[in-house]
Amino acid sequence: MSTEDPRIEALRERREAAEMGGGAAAIQRQHDRGKLTARERIDLFVDPGTFEELDPFKIHRCREFGMDKKVFPGDGVVTGFGRVDGRVTAVFAQDFTVFGGSLSGANAEKVVKLMDMSMKIGCPIVGLNDSGGARIQEGVVSLGGYADIFLRNTLASGVVPQLSAVLGPCAGGAVYSPAITDFVIMVDGSSYMYVTGPNVVKTVTHEEVTHDELGGAGAHSEKSGVAHFRVDDDASAIATLKRLLAYLPQNNTENPPAGPGTDDPNRMDERLNAIVPEDPNKPYDIREVIQMVVDDGEFMEVHEHFAGNIVVGFAHLGGRTVGIIGNQPQVLAGCLDVDASVKGARFVRFCDCFNIPLVTFEDVPGFLPGTDQEWNGIIRNGAKLLYAYCEATVPKLTVITRKAYGGAYDVMSSKHIRGDWNVAWPSAEVAVMGHKGAVEIIFRKEIAASDDPAALQAKLEQEYREQFANPYVAAERGYLDDVIEPKTTRPRLISALALLETKRDRNPPKKHGNIPL
Ligand code: HXC
Repeated sequence: MSTEDPRIEALRERREAAEMGGGAAAIQRQHDRGKLTARERIDLFVDPGTFEELDPFKIHRCREFGMDKKVFPGDGVVTGFGRVDGRVTAVFAQDFTVFGGSLSGANAEKVVKLMDMSMKIGCPIVGLNDSGGARIQEGVVSLGGYADIFLRNTLASGVVPQLSAVLGPCAGGAVYSPAITDFVIMVDGSSYMYVTGPNVVKTVTHEEVTHDELGGAGAHSEKSGVAHFRVDDDASAIATLKRLLAYLPQNNTENPPAGPGTDDPNRMDERLNAIVPEDPNKPYDIREVIQMVVDDGEFMEVHEHFAGNIVVGFAHLGGRTVGIIGNQPQVLAGCLDVDASVKGARFVRFCDCFNIPLVTFEDVPGFLPGTDQEWNGIIRNGAKLLYAYCEATVPKLTVITRKAYGGAYDVMSSKHIRGDWNVAWPSAEVAVMGHKGAVEIIFRKEIAASDDPAALQAKLEQEYREQFANPYVAAERGYLDDVIEPKTTRPRLISALALLETKRDRNPPKKHGNIPL
């Protein structure tokens, strides 16, 4: 067949039409809003020349409302496989220039085909969302399309990593596909997610609220926790996706790729020996500890703006990906509350799904007391974190830097719940509760009967601290594997990780557990 063949010409024309999406004017409108088009986003995301598109000619089948005259090849979503840093990745990008990126039956079928192929291949699925929701003209066909996607999101959960960037509107039930995925990235100013928009909110609750206040990147990264990352623009969202993928395996049967660092595994940091203040009530930044320990100080924090009393994220240690969970003494003294428990639990479960060892830095005075916490279910939510750590079978390494009090001691990857390598710094205090509370309960009668209650209390507190506020009671029982000099934390963790490389553990056979949701 010669290149002059009119059928080849026709093919080219069709492809060009597909590549133009909703046309030049709609593309211009997209750019005027500071947003990239679906294809520009994919170009930024995948390695040059690697994108294998699927279904560029697929069209909708709606004939009502004059839709038979409005047909765009590709129908508002671009789907296919590309390589990201050389690794196969599935990507779909909703094209806002075609019917506002709304989801038609045909459009859903494209996404479903991509997801089904990804599951067979065993590669991550990345969604670039920018859509007005259900294609209103198609009614229930569109709703069915969403449900087909939700089902696949659920079946893929824990099998391949699923990442969502929300780069425009995401409204109605459409929010639930990103919500089921592992990580959500939102762009400040141009993306929003909500179940119902400001108009419906006003009718139902009489609240006046803007799109951004209700469901912008700020609301979801600080208040609701729906968004794990908040970025400034589309390009930063794509860069965040790529950075995140570099820590993750392709699927649940593989290990994550080696990190790029050249940091010496035996590097020690003298600053760690002095980072915990003498005064147990004085805070320090657990992020600094993490950065001093991990390869090249590179820590990719997840949920940075949500529940700051726990810090979670990815790093490499001796080139291995690890998931780090650290109590943050700078916020609420590092207490576990509802949000921190849920944040930590979801992260622990993600890491366990994908063979990512857990490294826990512990400095936790306990669960946060009060009616607000109790009535919002600190019992039910704290139990999620406990459950997540208990069921996790990946290597679990714990470093107690200071406080490990009460139930929180048990929860934070303790030896008793299958911690593999549990150590403490000499500054650790492992006890049922702080000295003040303990003395007030144990010696209430003696203190009340004393001539000088304040002096007696101070003396007893001092004795209690000397006796219990140290790591050695736990170490003597084998609840800690060792007490280590803080500056040796990095080499010790790396050596323990190497030891645990071949760890195998499993939970009893069951359909699935019943995590207290
Ligand atoms: C069909 C849609 C559409 C939709 C937008 N468009 N949303 N077409 N179905 N859901 C079309 C518009 O008609 C317009 O076409 C083009 O996309 C661009 O839309 P604009 O309104 O001009 O853009 P903008 O001003 O930026 O507003 C964007 C928007 C708004 C906020 C998303 O379009 C909007 O409110 N759309 C409806 C949102 C909605 O109610 N969706 C259903 C939610 S319920 P032309 O031809 O004029 O360029 C839902 C249920 C899912 O999703 C349930 C799953 C379980």
